[in-house]
Amino acid sequence: MDFNSKLKEYTNQIESYLKQCLAVSDVRQKNVLSAMAYSVEAGGKRVRPILTLEFCRLCGGDPASALPFAAAVELVHSYSLIHDDLPCMDNDDFRRGRPSCHKAYGEATALLAGDGLLTMAFELISRAKLPAERMVAAAAVLSGYAGVMGMIGGQVIDLESEGKSVQPQTLQSMYDLKTAALLRAACELGCIAAGASEEQLASARSYATALGFAFQIVDDILDIEGDSTLLGKETGSDAANGKRTYPAVYGMEKAKKDADAYTQSALEALKTFDNAEFLEMFTRKLAVRDR
Ligand code: IPE
Ligand code: IPE
Ligand code: MG
Ligand code: MG
Ligand code: MG
Repeated sequence: MDFNSKLKEYTNQIESYLKQCLAVSDVRQKNVLSAMAYSVEAGGKRVRPILTLEFCRLCGGDPASALPFAAAVELVHSYSLIHDDLPCMDNDDFRRGRPSCHKAYGEATALLAGDGLLTMAFELISRAKLPAERMVAAAAVLSGYAGVMGMIGGQVIDLESEGKSVQPQTLQSMYDLKTAALLRAACELGCIAAGASEEQLASARSYATALGFAFQIVDDILDIEGDSTLLGKETGSDAANGKRTYPAVYGMEKAKKDADAYTQSALEALKTFDNAEFLEMFTRKLAVRDR
């Protein structure tokens, strides 16, 4: 199957699974459920769940068996975006091509919709049709990478660094935690669904870490040079908030050079897998994305 057909197939599988999880029934809580569906179904590149399915396949599993894990990481990611856009964080009015969750539903509902998505992620993991020990391992991995020592910790550094000068080590930790951690979760969850070896998990972890740095640097570059219509979110947000980003700290030229170098290390980490052509192409395309 060619790259685009496989990408489409994964995306369709993920989106129909997410749609089922987020069906809005006529219950008292229907407003918050609609807010959850509004944010998740708006689209997005689905990078994390695609990584979960593909790592499952690379490690010899059936990608469909990893769908609950893939959806779980996308729900955590979507929750992080809803909260990231709130006025008390980045104060952004657009996301995934539509008004941010709090613009459409109000801040209190957006806050609770994020909480609802985070909680639902662990429900999906606990109901996966996989051996119990893999489900427990998945919950441990996702909670670790999403938590205070993971993505939340990175968001804390991001907010605390606004308008200040930061040490290179602080910037590294910020990127590693706020972005690379959830990519590690995505890749490792695919490995876990397949019952992968420690070696495979370690390669997935190195790949995801390098990809995470490349991914966030490109996100920061797009916030400066990108087209907001294509991106589906407003540009110039980082400068307006005094964010310490790679281009802000090191300049645009070094940011681009380092993003390429991280993409190369990610590709290097894939060498231990047979049959990684799809993931290689996916990694290269993310480096030159416009959204
Ligand atoms: C945006 O992530 C936030 C970052 C970690 C840079 P994505 O660029 O993956 O956002 P969606 O899911 O495609 O909307
Ligand atoms: C997002 O970083 C990281 C998260 C954990 C949500 P940004 O704040 O740069 O993401 P965007 O640009 O708003 O998508
Ligand atoms: Mg942010
Ligand atoms: Mg933001
Ligand atoms: Mg950004």
